[in-house]
Amino acid sequence: MNRYIEIDPEDYHVLHPRPAYLIVTKGRDGRLNVMAASWVMPVSEEPPRYIVSIYREQYTYKIVKETMEFTINIVGEEHAEIVWKAGTLSGWKTDKWKLLGLEPLESKHIGAPGVKGAYGVVECRVEKLIPVGECDLAICEPLRTIVRSDLYQRYGWDLRRAKILMHQRGRVFVLPGKLIIIPKGKR
Ligand SMILES: Cc1cc2nc3c(=O)[nH]c(=O)nc-3n(C[C@H](O)[C@H](O)[C@H](O)COP(=O)(O)O)c2cc1C
Repeated sequence: MNRYIEIDPEDYHVLHPRPAYLIVTKGRDGRLNVMAASWVMPVSEEPPRYIVSIYREQYTYKIVKETMEFTINIVGEEHAEIVWKAGTLSGWKTDKWKLLGLEPLESKHIGAPGVKGAYGVVECRVEKLIPVGECDLAICEPLRTIVRSDLYQRYGWDLRRAKILMHQRGRVFVLPGKLIIIPKGKR
């Protein structure tokens, strides 16, 4: 029989691992910044809306409030160090874009670019910011999504090639490794 133990209900890691993304913003001065984010998810299909939970102290938050736009970059194993640095250094003190040697992938509808080499990029316009605790939920509209054609197929990400990076806890990341397809006819 399975036994259960009680853990701290404040320990949100029970809902991890979650994909770790890169959020790119462009300030009014033209400066690019990148931050790691794993509290990101789709929340509505009609109309299509995503949320990104952003701590109000982040440099990213300041820029998002000013510009109401960003890109969500889907990244993988080969980007782990970039994610870690983007998630532990702040744009308040460091020009992470330069430090990490990132190259922009121009967006069509917004000023903030994607990151060259990312598996996919979603151009987002922020519709509203909703405060929850120390964070604001940025409710955003996906204006344009691009994916690397070698990594995306009819089931979505081809996990044999796309090593989508997921954040477990602290310095620990994991990779999804198995596709489970429910046979047709099952509910
Ligand atoms: C894997 C990972 C996921 C993170 N997820 C989020 C997140 O969803 N929201 C957030 O506000 N900060 C998140 N952070 C923390 C920010 O990335 C971090 O505080 C960063 O330094 C903020 O950068 P900025 O000040 O340049 O915006 C995460 C950090 C890591 C390493």
